[in-house]
Amino acid sequence: MKSFEIKTKIFFGDQALDRLSEIPYKKVLVITDPFMAGSNMFRLVTDPLKKGNKEFEIFKDVVPDPPIEKISEGVKAMLAYKPDAIIAVGGGSAIDSSKSIREFALRVDHYGDVGLIAIPTTSGTGSEVTSFAVVSDPKEQMKYPLVSPELTPDEAILDAELVKSVPPSVTADTGMDVFTHAIEACVSVDRNEFATALAEKAIEICGVFLLRAYLDGNDTHARQKMHAASCLAGLAFNSASLGLNHGMAHQLGATFHIPHGRANAMLLPHIIEFNSDINKHSKSRSEYLPAVRRYSTVAQILGLSSYNEIMTVRSLVNWVQFMLKEMDIPLSISQMGTISEEEYFGAIDRMADAALADACTETNPRVPRKAEVVQIYKDLW
Ligand SMILES: NC(=O)c1ccc[n+]([C@@H]2O[C@H](COP(=O)([O-])OP(=O)(O)OC[C@H]3O[C@@H](n4cnc5c(N)ncnc54)[C@H](O)[C@@H]3O)[C@@H](O)[C@H]2O)c1
Ligand SMILES: [Fe+2]
Repeated sequence: MKSFEIKTKIFFGDQALDRLSEIPYKKVLVITDPFMAGSNMFRLVTDPLKKGNKEFEIFKDVVPDPPIEKISEGVKAMLAYKPDAIIAVGGGSAIDSSKSIREFALRVDHYGDVGLIAIPTTSGTGSEVTSFAVVSDPKEQMKYPLVSPELTPDEAILDAELVKSVPPSVTADTGMDVFTHAIEACVSVDRNEFATALAEKAIEICGVFLLRAYLDGNDTHARQKMHAASCLAGLAFNSASLGLNHGMAHQLGATFHIPHGRANAMLLPHIIEFNSDINKHSKSRSEYLPAVRRYSTVAQILGLSSYNEIMTVRSLVNWVQFMLKEMDIPLSISQMGTISEEEYFGAIDRMADAALADACTETNPRVPRKAEVVQIYKDLW
């Protein structure tokens, strides 16, 4: 038996942030990062809270790829203040921190029910509607996806005004994260019609609007569309889960601090090739792997088609590489110029083990062997 649920109530469109003046909570802890707390935009969040006579405090110590120590600082802040809701304002790092802080604080002291409202300021993770939170353990060089329905926010507020300040490189990385969520949801072993419908819409929007948002951050229409796509893709993978792309990207993030979306983007052409096995030209149509048909559908949504399905999947790989080049995302680790060959190859064996153990990898359409994961990491160099 399968089921599909959207637990989070989503507020979007003009003046969506006005919702904050009417939330059913009195005392809230706003969790954000130092950039957002210091920016003029933050008033868009605090003004409606003041208007609604909400009492609030701000915890602004979120860092990218939230490590366990920062989560425990947040737990202390929450238990000292005892809010009846948390408002997460920021990218995936702020939202995932908030999810983890609420979860762990209430395990220490369940002083009551605490609501969670997520306000994304990047169009990327979809964390505002998912039951996932990724935390990092810098000592072990690991990133762990926590997965539990309890982590899902109660409300999400989508206001593209908050995204306009995102610099082009972060727009590119986070936008490719959206695309990777959608494509992995479409080919996952847990895919279903509901998730695929949401993912396909996200893919269509990325095809039309990601480059536009990258080239002009003030293109309001493109920003609104990508903000919606991010949420749609989040809903999709929350139901269908992800795959090897994310399983391997988490290790690149944990070991080399490559931004999450960038790691996904760089891996994506390799993972499409692996999952569809398109380099084996001799196969007849009946022997194509099941993912070939699904990737081919994705390609067609982007307006790409060729004389057979294998060539259509090939054109999808080319399209992803084109997007990376247009948005200045390196195609290989060596091209980044920041990681030595010795350091990288020295980490591959451990990264491959961790990628195979990552919860996201379980739903990949092709079961990877360790040697294959090692080879993909090598090819990425
Ligand atoms: N929970 C999930 O479902 C899920 C899914 C995918 C990824 N993740 C996790 O989310 C994290 C990545 O999140 P992210 O990609 O949103 O990046 P992020 O939250 O780490 O932010 C990246 C950078 O952008 C800055 N930034 C954020 N909003 C901005 C704005 N409006 N203007 C200018 N700068 C801004 C931040 O200060 C930060 O320096 C990773 O830890 C990743 O593993 C979670
Ligand atoms: Fe992601």
